[in-house]
This record gives sequence, C-alpha cells and structure tokens, in this order.
Amino acid sequence: MESDRLIPQGISRYDIVSSTNEKAKETLDEGVQEGAVILAARQASGRGRYGRAWASPPGGLYLSIILKPEERGVQLLSLLSGLPVVHTLRRFGVESSLKWPNDVLVNGRKICGILCEGVYRRNVFWAVVGIGINVAVDLRRLPPDVQSSATSIRRENGRDADVESVLADLLKEYDDFYKTYAKQETGRLLSEYRGMCTTLGESVVIETAKGRISGRAIDVSSDGALVLDSGGRKIEVFEGTIAKPS
Ligand code: BTN
Repeated sequence: MESDRLIPQGISRYDIVSSTNEKAKETLDEGVQEGAVILAARQASGRGRYGRAWASPPGGLYLSIILKPEERGVQLLSLLSGLPVVHTLRRFGVESSLKWPNDVLVNGRKICGILCEGVYRRNVFWAVVGIGINVAVDLRRLPPDVQSSATSIRRENGRDADVESVLADLLKEYDDFYKTYAKQETGRLLSEYRGMCTTLGESVVIETAKGRISGRAIDVSSDGALVLDSGGRKIEVFEGTIAKPS
C-alpha cells in the first residue's frame, strides 16, 4: 500500500455482521484508527437512511469507513461521498448519476446507497461512512418492492464483477476524495457533484421530518442543502427523501 494513503488503515473482514456501521461504532471504543474499514460479506440487519432496511445478500459490497472529520460540514461529507462511488463504477464500465442527497443510480435504478453517521466518543467526533454497492447481487434476492428499482454492476456491464476488485478501487477513490475534502477543497467537489446530480432541474416532492415540501430543484448549496424554487420562494432543504420523481 502506498505510504501516503489514509484509507484503509486495516480492513476488518467478517462473513456476517448485523450492520457494518454498527460494528464500526463498536470499534470506536477499542482504540480504532482513522481510516479503518469494516467489511462484511453479508449483513443480517443492514440499515439505510431513516431507519430503513438495506437488504444485504451475498454478492454485494458492504463496508464502513471510519473517519475523524471536523463535525462542522459533515453533512457535506455525506453528500459528496457518492463521488468516489461514481468514479469506481466508471472503472467497471458503469455510468451512474447521483440523486440528492447521495443515492447512486444507473438509468433511474439504485446501485448504491450511503449511510453516513456522526458519533461522539469521549469528546471526539467520528464519522462512519457506510457504503453498500450491488456488485453481483442476485436482484431476485432483494425485497420484491425494491427489485424493479435496483440494479447491480453485473446487470449493467454484463460481466461478472468481483467484490474484491470493486473494494480495491473504491478505497483508492475514497482516499483521493477524502484528501481533497479534508483540505477543504470542497468547491471543486461540489461543482462535480452538481454536474452529476440528476435531481437538479427536476420538480420534486421531498418528505422531511416537518412534512412534504415541493418545488423545482435549482441548486445544491455550499453546505449540501437542496435549493428549491417553491412558487417563486427559495427554500433550502437539508434533510429528506425525494418522493418523486427520481
Ligand atoms: C440508503 O440508501 O438508505 C443507505 C444504504 C446504506 C447501506 C450501507 S451497506 C454498509 C453500511 N452498513 C449498513 O448497515 N448500511 C450501510
């Protein structure tokens, strides 16, 4: 491994865990180093955003990267973490785009989900970035309600992609990305994000904790909010799920 790499600082491999994010949080109490990676072949209770389940059958890449970023702006880290995934997929012949905040899609079907969680341990702020990529998952093993809106690298490029190669490329891409992020060169990353975000220009309905907000997505702010034009009024939405369309 090149000496200037932060990620990975060791990869802890498991056949099955409840959730790599949960496992990662446990290791925070055990003196783990920034850059450590937790990897599992399967998850019994993989989690998505807003407590949703993330089905994790064999053939998927399920990992969590442990980071120690500044707490301020961690929402942006979560948002921008889709970029290294898009770069990785491109190396495997798959062109993808981003749906705000960080779903990775191929022709409207989801190929990767990202769950970034911030936690404090003994006054130190950590971020656990959980990434799930459908590498060679048999899509028939996903819950019936997500099968038609999901895809995999194997389905898209028609070849058998293997989890280890995708892992190696993803960690390299994430390391490059995180160096840029940590140097606070986020302007460049944000421009790239805006170019890849298919939500921009769309009329959307966003489900938030405070109810539904609708409007036309016109920008992503420098702190990661989706800026909506809602009947002529500009609204910044920081958290939520796009109900329609993708
Ligand atoms: C989403 O789209 O809602 C986010 C899905 C995140 C799934 C990954 S798989 C690895 C890590 N461990 C989890 O339990 N979740 C994330």
